[in-house]
Amino acid sequence: MSNTGSSEEIRYDYTNVMADRVGERDGLSEAELEGLAEAVRGYHDEITAERRSGELPFMDLPQRRDYVEGAAGFAASVRERFENVVLLGIGGSALGMTALQSALNHPFHNLLDGEQRRGPRLFVVDNIDPVLIQGLLDVVEVGQTLFVVVTKSGQTAETISQLMLLTGVLKERLGNGMREHVVAITNPERGALRSIAKAEGLVSFEVPEGVGGRFSVLSPVGLVPAALAGIDVEGLLAGASAMDKRLQTGEMTGNPAYAGAAVHYLLDVKHGKSVAVMLSYSHQLRDVADWFRQLWAESLGKSRTLSGDEVHVGQTPVKAVGVTDQHSQVQLYVEGPSDKMFTFLAVEEPGVDVEIPGEHLEEEACVYLGGRRFGELFRAEREGTEIALTEACRPNATISLAQVEPGTVGGLLYLLEVQTVMAAKLYGVNAFDQPGVEAGKVASYALMGRSGYEAERVEMERKLKGAKRRSV
Ligand code: PA5
Repeated sequence: MSNTGSSEEIRYDYTNVMADRVGERDGLSEAELEGLAEAVRGYHDEITAERRSGELPFMDLPQRRDYVEGAAGFAASVRERFENVVLLGIGGSALGMTALQSALNHPFHNLLDGEQRRGPRLFVVDNIDPVLIQGLLDVVEVGQTLFVVVTKSGQTAETISQLMLLTGVLKERLGNGMREHVVAITNPERGALRSIAKAEGLVSFEVPEGVGGRFSVLSPVGLVPAALAGIDVEGLLAGASAMDKRLQTGEMTGNPAYAGAAVHYLLDVKHGKSVAVMLSYSHQLRDVADWFRQLWAESLGKSRTLSGDEVHVGQTPVKAVGVTDQHSQVQLYVEGPSDKMFTFLAVEEPGVDVEIPGEHLEEEACVYLGGRRFGELFRAEREGTEIALTEACRPNATISLAQVEPGTVGGLLYLLEVQTVMAAKLYGVNAFDQPGVEAGKVASYALMGRSGYEAERVEMERKLKGAKRRSV
């Protein structure tokens, strides 16, 4: 089996997860990978059949012209009117857009002046700490702001409470003009936000039925705010679509998503790598690592298999950023417990480089840097970390992008989604539910006194009161 994928744009290199690089205790043998190949082929056939019968609608998103045209058309019609776009949402309703914004817009997008920016300033407000909420009101002029409210269920307490606040503020300022400032992205038929959108006459888009939040970045959930922020959403989908074609094979040797799933699964269950660190050596891709953290955690962290056996599986995904975390986490990664595997994100041609001038050359610490480029230093630090991890028998793979541009980012996100679906098949769990998240939502409804949750409230208060408190 070749250790390198074939795409010119995105490549998955798993050389350093193999036993000949990191030893038999920590690395995979060819036999282990080959032993899984038949199961992967079988699961590929299942995925193909499920897709055909409409059970995997996230896989149709790269081809949905209606969504991309709707998002681009709407954005073109309103983008000039607003200084700010504020996305209100949480979890899968927010992390995808944050990843797109960091990857594809200027690193200081919000600080550029209007001429230089490709779209309005963008704020993703995915928390309800009152300090953050008040802070938002302090910095955005609501009359110049479009609020994009995203909730698949249409009833998540965090997002709905934010909407209630902003509706109040906007109505007080603008009366019925409020409706020009709020866009709803939610279930096409059900939920409180859908009802509110109808009652208030809001522009709205759908979260497609059967597409969970963490698989929704290529639906209107990501496309509408991305288009508003000036991101090339056509390019994003074109890249996802090209990746979709590449992933049609059930052979791991030609399918980077399946190879990634097999590597993660085998390292976890056979070699005790219960922590999966995504280490982004691209400042632009750092929030892709954050988005992936949710995708991997919520899809695979399950107590039961599909057939009902109690298992408690799922790697703990960790986001790390190179070079920043070299000075924070890498000590642990190299010398701490050998319970981790690593996936570097790397960019071959960043497209921008900056020279380090020959200043302070009287200092030995400056001589070797003078006249070199930040890109060289950045690459050397990534390669140095890769060598250090490999020498310490820490299995590591690299996903390389030729460049960070809409096509490669769309391709990468789609690849990671399919990798997650295959990994769920290998673990035998449902990738698309999240009973643990729902339990937390029910608890907050009960504690806040929502009608219909009275019994849960009584039970929770009993448990809270019954707990012996220990504090100092
Ligand atoms: O991936 C998921 O389904 C979750 O993370 C949800 O996105 C998150 O809980 C928010 O739910 P909703 O979009 O219904 O507000």
